[in-house]
Amino acid sequence: MVSESQSVFEVKDGSIAFGGNQALDEVSFAMEKGQLIGLIGPNGSGKTTLLNATSGIYPLNSGAISFEGNRIEKEPPHRIARAGVARTFQIARIFPHMTTLENMLAPGFAVRDGGKETRVTLIRRAKEYLDFLDIADFADEQAGDLSGGQHMLLQFARALMLKPRLMLLDEPFGGIHPLLIERILERIRDLRDQGIDFIVVSHDLPTIMGLATRIVVLANGKVIADGTPGEVREDPGVIEAYLGV
Ligand SMILES: Nc1ncnc2c1ncn2[C@@H]1O[C@H](COP(=O)(O)OP(=O)(O)OP(=O)(O)O)[C@@H](O)[C@H]1O
Ligand SMILES: [Mg+2]
Repeated sequence: MVSESQSVFEVKDGSIAFGGNQALDEVSFAMEKGQLIGLIGPNGSGKTTLLNATSGIYPLNSGAISFEGNRIEKEPPHRIARAGVARTFQIARIFPHMTTLENMLAPGFAVRDGGKETRVTLIRRAKEYLDFLDIADFADEQAGDLSGGQHMLLQFARALMLKPRLMLLDEPFGGIHPLLIERILERIRDLRDQGIDFIVVSHDLPTIMGLATRIVVLANGKVIADGTPGEVREDPGVIEAYLGV
């Protein structure tokens, strides 16, 4: 029996300009279930802009984005999140004056099963995710007192409150302790085993090359390479883009 394979995620000719600056220039790629895409490229190449477009923060000027076969490029962020796409930010967005647990429960960060999930089960789920990311000990501490790496773990835990099927991580390894990087890698692998797909933006090339099944490279808003980590590593255009020659 032939099963029809449907892309989990697809961007087709996606373009965004900020003034005269073409941040995304007809970007196209499709992702199958089970792939883990590493999205790399020099500073300013459009990686965060692509995540922003996918999560509804900046609408595309032209082109299309689909999640599980449904067009999402015109949907607002909360609808995209509810549809199953969660993300983390390059600079962690947390509420510093709320506790770690309160950050998990803040409105908009959870899917309450059509409103049926009680506060008790919501709190239980929040604590499970904090535990999963090894920050449960800080549940009652002010989030602002946690380290930068722990903020990244908190963002990650909070994204899980949405019960996502696709997670977009923007620089999850940037400036954090190698032990925490290991922890995040383990957790990404655990979640993949549970069927969650990932697009991970990273400047940490050894780490992302070790994690991803496929690497998409952006430069000046264009896809300049798309292949296995081995293929991309050898690609002269990629080396050139990174060296800036
Ligand atoms: N809100 C905005 N307003 C104006 N220009 C923007 C905005 N967001 C991004 N840009 C521009 O779009 C281009 C792509 O930026 P983007 O943040 O997507 O790059 P990036 O690949 O994530 O870079 P980095 O690796 O430094 O995070 C850059 O030229 C940037 O200055
Ligand atoms: Mg960025």
